[in-house]
Amino acid sequence: MNQPVTDEQVVAYRRDGFVRIPGIIGEDEAARYARAALAARDRQKDVPRDPAFTHLMQLWQQDETLRELTLSPVLAAAATALAGVPLRLYHDHLLIKEPHNGAPTEFHQDQPYWPHLGSRHSLSAWVALVDVPTTRGCMTFIPGSHLLDGRHRQDLRDADNLMRAAPELVWEPRVTVPLRAGDCTFHHSLTAHSASPNLTDDPRVAHVVVYMDVETRYDPRERLVGEPLVEPAGVAAGVPFPDDDFPPLP
Ligand code: SIN
Ligand code: NI
Repeated sequence: MNQPVTDEQVVAYRRDGFVRIPGIIGEDEAARYARAALAARDRQKDVPRDPAFTHLMQLWQQDETLRELTLSPVLAAAATALAGVPLRLYHDHLLIKEPHNGAPTEFHQDQPYWPHLGSRHSLSAWVALVDVPTTRGCMTFIPGSHLLDGRHRQDLRDADNLMRAAPELVWEPRVTVPLRAGDCTFHHSLTAHSASPNLTDDPRVAHVVVYMDVETRYDPRERLVGEPLVEPAGVAAGVPFPDDDFPPLP
């Protein structure tokens, strides 16, 4: 395989905690995956429809088409090059901001939600399956915030939750990254990020693939009410995540 990301992209990711990779998949592929995503949403009866987004998890275990995207060797190679440590899949999820949903996704870090112990690195690929201009649930990042220390699970509906815990971020510049269908961003699991409400007539369809350090061990903890948490079944505290449900990347 060709080099999945350039040296400049690796440097930018490690400095800023996120990077945009244009055209990680083709436009036609993005359209095919977007159709599969909307069909999966329509098939599933009791999908949690949070105001911020309609949320479906673990598509790779349920949908043949989206499985291809989650297990894409191109995404995997890019994630591995950025992280610099061997990775496994943690989980995938579809985040669909419905037309005129009226709710942003407020600033948060991802890592504090996860039951991970001893992780050297975890990151997400956020793949735009439709065009995502700034008006359609576009992501914003705070460069360098992945270097922040001290973390707690942040409330995605509370605009000030993260800022109260980390007031040094209040005056930091933010970078908003519109994406064309087929582009993606990778973000470090500690990078502060948010997404705008969808002000348009079309759904914002993003497929997010989450990767974790292959050596991460399970750190069980209390689940908040309604919290969508992916945990290894039948695994004791302090044991690595099993390969069957959390496949190591090739
Ligand atoms: C969103 O797409 O609305 C949020 C994505 C994320 O938190 O990673
Ligand atoms: Ni997030």
